[in-house]
Amino acid sequence: MTHEKLAFLGGGNMGRALIGGLLQRDTRPEHIFVGEALESARAALSRDFGVAATADNAAAIDGASVVVLAVKPQDAGAVLTPLAPVLQRTRPLLVSVCAGLRTSALEAWCGGNIPVVRAMPNRPALVGAGATGLFAASRVAAAHRARAESIMRATGEVVWVPTEDALDVVTALSGSGPAYFFLLAELMMQAAIDLGLEPDAARRLSVATLHGAGMLAHSGDGDLARMRAEVTSKGGTTEAALAVLNSADIKGIVARALEAATRRGREMAQLFGGPGAPTR
Ligand SMILES: NC(=O)c1ccc[n+]([C@@H]2O[C@H](COP(=O)([O-])OP(=O)(O)OC[C@H]3O[C@@H](n4cnc5c(N)ncnc54)[C@H](OP(=O)(O)O)[C@@H]3O)[C@@H](O)[C@H]2O)c1
Repeated sequence: MTHEKLAFLGGGNMGRALIGGLLQRDTRPEHIFVGEALESARAALSRDFGVAATADNAAAIDGASVVVLAVKPQDAGAVLTPLAPVLQRTRPLLVSVCAGLRTSALEAWCGGNIPVVRAMPNRPALVGAGATGLFAASRVAAAHRARAESIMRATGEVVWVPTEDALDVVTALSGSGPAYFFLLAELMMQAAIDLGLEPDAARRLSVATLHGAGMLAHSGDGDLARMRAEVTSKGGTTEAALAVLNSADIKGIVARALEAATRRGREMAQLFGGPGAPTR
């Protein structure tokens, strides 16, 4: 149990997912403070979680040992810049979940010399089944890394990556990944309807298959190729379907999709990157 003050800037989807996860673990609501612009969101935070929510961001972060930045990337510079005097006085750990925003930009908006950990969570964090990539520059202390990891672990799996560029690949894999599985399940559902299945049955079976495959993959040793082989009998139905997918170069299609997402993440970092954004 931690008794430190933990502050959030932004109490929207991701902020709420993290707060909900933390409260289910080892954090008491009286230790969480949220700076949130929207009045209805503040009321919901107090009602649903019993945490203090204020429109005054400086008051929310004052005295906090950790500040979690959970506003939209395009709002981050405008939110952090006026808080620089408070941040420079209190020097908390900043954990940013903002997609694409570089450490150098975040540090610069805070006035410099603030430990920053970047996290790239994904949407299933909302149901406690998230996948988060974490990155921190080598100067960030082990205790700060451990604190950031424990916060993000409240929403699911966490994995550290060694470079900031690798976080763009995390964005392409697990950040955007749920949409790829949703697309596949949607296409499978439609194909089953076209083959004569009732729409409601096709939808329920498709969603349950997505859920079941995910649970099975997660419960095992992570050897996806072996798990696939185990459900693919020689000369059977699964083998027939996989042969069609492979002949359409599904491997190349997926590789190109992840390349496009990685590239787009880097372009977006340029758009929202702010003062310290890299030039490449
Ligand atoms: N949701 C996801 O699946 C997901 C996945 C990975 C990463 N992320 C990252 O998480 C971050 C937050 O995303 P989200 O989906 O949680 O967005 P969101 O639901 O829009 O939440 C952001 C919240 O911050 C508030 N806000 C805006 N300006 C503010 C200010 N000046 N002071 C205090 N609060 C302010 C917003 O209020 P208003 O509505 O009034 O603007 C909103 O309630 C983003 O940077 C995103 O890249 C999200």
